[in-house]
Amino acid sequence: MKIFLDTANLGEIRRAAAAGLIDGVTTNPSLLAKVAGDRDPMEIFLEICEAIDGPVSAEVVAVDTETMVDEGTRLAAVHPNIAVKVPLTEDGLVACRELSSRDIPVNVTLCFSAPQALLAAKAGAAYISPFIGRLDDISHDGMELIRQIRVIYDNYGMRTEILAASLRHPRHVVESLEMGADVATLPPGVLHKLIRHPLTDLGLAAFLADWEKLGRDL
Ligand code: E4P
Repeated sequence: MKIFLDTANLGEIRRAAAAGLIDGVTTNPSLLAKVAGDRDPMEIFLEICEAIDGPVSAEVVAVDTETMVDEGTRLAAVHPNIAVKVPLTEDGLVACRELSSRDIPVNVTLCFSAPQALLAAKAGAAYISPFIGRLDDISHDGMELIRQIRVIYDNYGMRTEILAASLRHPRHVVESLEMGADVATLPPGVLHKLIRHPLTDLGLAAFLADWEKLGRDL
C-alpha cells in the first residue's frame, strides 16, 4: 500500500517526505496553477522529483494524441521518476499506449467508471486514477468504483495500479485501501487529518501540564 501527496506545494512535499510518510506525488494542471506564478512548470516538476524518491505524476494539457505524446515525452525527459498523466479520452488512451510502448509510465486520470478503468489497463496504463470525491459529489458511490476495478483487474490479472484519487477525508483513505487500492493520493489537508486525533492532543496536554508542575528540565 502506497501513499502519494496530491499537491505541487514543495514545502508540503518536503515535510511529508522528511517523515517518510509519502511514496510519491500526484499533480494536475489546477494544482500546478496554484503555485506556478510565472515559473516554468518543468522546473517545478524537477524540484518535486528532487524532493521525493518516488513517482511524480505530471499531466499533459493537450487534447489530441500527437500533442499529448509530444508533451508526455518532454515531461518524462525532466526526470526518470515522472509518470505522465493523460485524461481518459480516446486520444488519451492512444497516447497512453504510445508513451507506455516507449517505457514511459502513464497515469490515466479522470476515471469515473469500471469500463473506463478496463480500457486504460488494456492501453498499458501504469496507474488508473478513479476520482472518488467527485463521484460522491454527484450522489454516486465512489468507493463502489474502487471495488469494481479491483475485482476486474484481479479476475484478469491486469497489472495497472489502482490509484484512488479525489480523496476528501480520512474515511475515503481507509475505505479505499480496505477495498484494495494500490495507492491513495491525498491532499496535504487530508494527510494532516490522518495524523491528528483529539485524544492524542488531550493526552499530550495532560502530560505536559503534569511535567510543568514538577518544575524540572529534562
Ligand atoms: C489526482 O490525481 C487528482 O489530482 C486529484 O485527486 C483530484 O482531486 P479533486 O477532485 O479534489 O480535485
